[in-house]
Amino acid sequence: MSALIPRPAREIAPCAVHVPDWLTLDEQRHLVVECRRWATAPVPMRAAQLPTGHRMSVQTVCLGWHWKPYSYSRTADDAGGGRVAPVPDWLVALGRRAVAAAFRAPADDYTPDAALINFYDETAKMGMHQDKEERSDAAVVSLSIGDTCTFRFGNTFNRGKPYTDVELVSGDLFVFGGPSRFAYHGVPKVFPGTCSVDCGLKSGRLNITLRVTGLADA
Ligand code: SIN
Ligand code: MN
Repeated sequence: MSALIPRPAREIAPCAVHVPDWLTLDEQRHLVVECRRWATAPVPMRAAQLPTGHRMSVQTVCLGWHWKPYSYSRTADDAGGGRVAPVPDWLVALGRRAVAAAFRAPADDYTPDAALINFYDETAKMGMHQDKEERSDAAVVSLSIGDTCTFRFGNTFNRGKPYTDVELVSGDLFVFGGPSRFAYHGVPKVFPGTCSVDCGLKSGRLNITLRVTGLADA
């Protein structure tokens, strides 16, 4: 979506960079088609259950490694037991381009081995949390498609202030690494009806995060 008021790339915190309008509409549509496929097999998209017994409002399917609160495995033991699909090479290449664009430096050694695909319906949200099940401090790449949301990017100490609220629009890229890699972040609000049909999604919001787990098979 092109904005009336230009949205320049912005460093929100050290090594946490928002790059608006990074994905083309073609790339967004392609990712939506692939996400629909990944959401059905070999592991179905599901709302993960938290240790409290509550289910997340966001629905998730994974590539490479299956994430459930709060660990990774090769098989989706809480979602039918299937072995997760691999992260395709083209998605690794997209991740490299994303890190290079955000940090304005080549990122040929960036090799994400897990992708979490999250779908938000109009009421879904995600509380403040750290991505900390990975044993690597390599950057996290976040790609957004569909409805606009408020993305809250905080500090590395607690879930509260100081934080910065960033509007993530369809096609936006956000990368966080370096001293911000373990910053708390969350999605307090999705704005229903804000996505353009051209992105391939009729409603809701998709977010894809690419991560380096640093894990090895047993
Ligand atoms: C996440 O923190 O894993 C997802 C963030 C987002 O949906 O933008
Ligand atoms: Mn996260």
